Amino acid sequence: MLVTIDNVLQEDELDALREGLRQADWATGVSAGPQARTVKKNLQIPEGDPRLQDMRTTVMRALNRSETLLSAALPFKILPPNFNRYSGETNRYGLHTDSTLRPLPDGSYLRTDISATLFLSDPDEYEGGELTIEDIYGVHQIKLAAGSLVVYPSGSIHEVRPVTRGERLACYMFMQSLVKDTEQRRHLYEMDTALRGLRGRHGEEDTDLVRLTGLYNNLLRRWSEC
Ligand code: NI
Repeated sequence: MLVTIDNVLQEDELDALREGLRQADWATGVSAGPQARTVKKNLQIPEGDPRLQDMRTTVMRALNRSETLLSAALPFKILPPNFNRYSGETNRYGLHTDSTLRPLPDGSYLRTDISATLFLSDPDEYEGGELTIEDIYGVHQIKLAAGSLVVYPSGSIHEVRPVTRGERLACYMFMQSLVKDTEQRRHLYEMDTALRGLRGRHGEEDTDLVRLTGLYNNLLRRWSEC
């Protein structure tokens, strides 16, 4: 399930992040598995950069505010977000899937169920640079406004097409979901979305809505692991 969410960042957060990116010392990163590494041609902010922590905090605060993200991803753990830049010679990330296990700062591991890209450049600032994601419905080309987010299953084959003009700045992250199975997660998201719509029209106290909300919670109880 691929979900796009507009305006995850507020204007001031986007400005602060872009200022941080402007000052960062970019480097060729190696945060990829053996296959992905061979097709990865972009720049990242290295772990030691003193601005990284503040930038990560800004992104995490924005993610935690998004009801749609919490409902669609049901995040259990989120790997500290990273930032990348595509331009000039380092302008693409060829077809790959994201590796399944990522080490966390505390030494444990995160299973990548969901990958996310938060766009930090507007589409008119660069040519190319589409994030293409394959699923059973076909190939999706994603290029969102700065401040908007896409989440998709980490197991999907995806790439960032070459940037042929300008630069594409983005933040990317990996999440372990409370619900590992993509289809179960999709059912829960669709049910929660419908429930929120119904609550808006019928109020919180409608008895059938209380029953359906209970059913949602019982399915989440049955399918989640933490
Ligand atoms: Ni990837």
